[in-house]
Amino acid sequence: MTQNGKIVILTGAGLSAESGLATFRDEGGLWSQHRIEDVATPEAFARNPDLVQAFYSARRAQSRTAHPNAAHDALARLQRDYGGEVVIVTQNVDGLHEKAGARVIHMHGALDSALCHRCDHRWTAPDTIDRDTACPACEARSARPDVVWFGEMPYHMDEIAEHLETADIFASIGTSGQVYPAAGFSQLASEYGAECIELNLEPTSNVFHQRRLGPATRTIPAWVEELIGR
Ligand code: APR
Repeated sequence: MTQNGKIVILTGAGLSAESGLATFRDEGGLWSQHRIEDVATPEAFARNPDLVQAFYSARRAQSRTAHPNAAHDALARLQRDYGGEVVIVTQNVDGLHEKAGARVIHMHGALDSALCHRCDHRWTAPDTIDRDTACPACEARSARPDVVWFGEMPYHMDEIAEHLETADIFASIGTSGQVYPAAGFSQLASEYGAECIELNLEPTSNVFHQRRLGPATRTIPAWVEELIGR
């Protein structure tokens, strides 16, 4: 691997598990407590907006009191101290990367952001968004969570594709690789010649050239130490 080559990282809910935030598909995860079609699609929001808003307001409140863990801290350190470019693309909406001091691309949006579904204005979300929450720009009562639902296009995909095409290392951290387009990133990076590594609790796909299994708070600091120490 070239010294200080460009590193592109994809993170998922497993990164925040040790910060006390539930993942989606593990035992007891969010999709065992709620049906996706009830809380995470545009149709669900049209059918029962109060249920959808309550689901995200509860997650927003929890994420606002959660703390980044050693894995978030290590990734922020990598971005700060590594000799080359480090791009972090996250599927997570919990804001813990930023709390650790990292700069990230939020492809699934963020709980801290509110979106007006009438004029597309974005602003820092209040603790609770409900049917009476007015848009600061157009004053319509049309606020929704600025989170990408199933069936919607993830954000920043052109920018992400450019990074995947120019990565020397692609690392997939704490994600089950079940949801596209994120699930296809390792294949794309590999086709452009990146060395692909998975750091997860369990193996997900055979696209990876290297795999380090275990809890993120153990595997990520060790991996970052190696990269910075090189
Ligand atoms: N350390 C490392 N990995 C972990 C840990 C941990 N402590 N705990 C769980 N994991 C791994 C699990 O083994 C699993 O592979 O994290 C992964 C979590 O997978 P999911 O729950 O499917 O979460 P994610 O991959 O982020 O989901 C992707 O699906 O529902 C949508 O929009 C939602 O962004 C989400 C997307």
